[in-house]
Amino acid sequence: MFDLKGKVALVTGAARGIGKEIALTLAFQGADVIVTDIAETVSDVAKEIEELGVKSLALKCDVSNQEEVLNVQKQVIEKFQKLDILVNNAGIYPQKPFLEMTAADWCTVMRVNQFGTFYFTKAFIQGMVDRKYGKIVNLSSISGPVGVFPNLVHYSTTKAAIAGFTKALALEMAPYHINVNAVAPGPIDVSAGQIPEAMTAQIVRAIPLGRMGKPDDVANLVVFLVSDEANFITGQTIVSDGGYTLP
Ligand SMILES: NC(=O)c1ccc[n+]([C@@H]2O[C@H](COP(=O)([O-])OP(=O)(O)OC[C@H]3O[C@@H](n4cnc5c(N)ncnc54)[C@H](O)[C@@H]3O)[C@@H](O)[C@H]2O)c1
Repeated sequence: MFDLKGKVALVTGAARGIGKEIALTLAFQGADVIVTDIAETVSDVAKEIEELGVKSLALKCDVSNQEEVLNVQKQVIEKFQKLDILVNNAGIYPQKPFLEMTAADWCTVMRVNQFGTFYFTKAFIQGMVDRKYGKIVNLSSISGPVGVFPNLVHYSTTKAAIAGFTKALALEMAPYHINVNAVAPGPIDVSAGQIPEAMTAQIVRAIPLGRMGKPDDVANLVVFLVSDEANFITGQTIVSDGGYTLP
């Protein structure tokens, strides 16, 4: 559908779930894809990508550790010489009522969801500025910028921040032809059918389109946003939630 041949992309948190699907979909459209994650199993995703006939590289990296992120940047530039597409996907959503939430809980979520996005963007954006080309997509959520879910005050705060970060960065990067956008998914089933049926039914009742989201609902949107077909879109946080936040 979109031609990403010759492009080099990197997806954080790509060992499973939405990140894995984004990485595979980018590869399917012809991009070479670097996959990073704290989980060793990210190397299995790199193998799947190579089976699609493009290049890949798996790197273990905690997005909340700036040294590890800079090491990824070094290895990517050594092997691929450039990065065209950055998808800041890695994120955590540990549920906890606010009354029980500690400063340590708060910091953990901020460090992964917010600092991780900042570290990866900082590491690669100068190269994009120099080449006057770049596509950045950040994973936000409907929880924060649009609606909220219970027991996720820290998470919702980071995801609203990601929407603000996306807008502010898009403005500064526009002169360099770098598009910065975010996607805000609704409930996406990343468990491959492991969510109990009763719980799925309850969520689905709140979704006008009548089903849970799937990782490829998000991946297809990301691929559009990083394609040259979306060159005139920047600073946006685009909701993909089956109408969940409409009523
Ligand atoms: N699943 C949903 O319903 C949903 C909805 C809205 C937004 N999102 C967002 O989409 C993104 C992906 O979510 P998911 O549901 O696929 O999650 P997931 O838990 O299935 O996968 C997350 C991946 O990130 C990795 N990861 C976690 N902490 C990391 C760290 N510090 N450094 C590097 N990698 C790390 C994990 O190992 C895992 O492979 C997140 O940013 C999440 O907030 C998910």
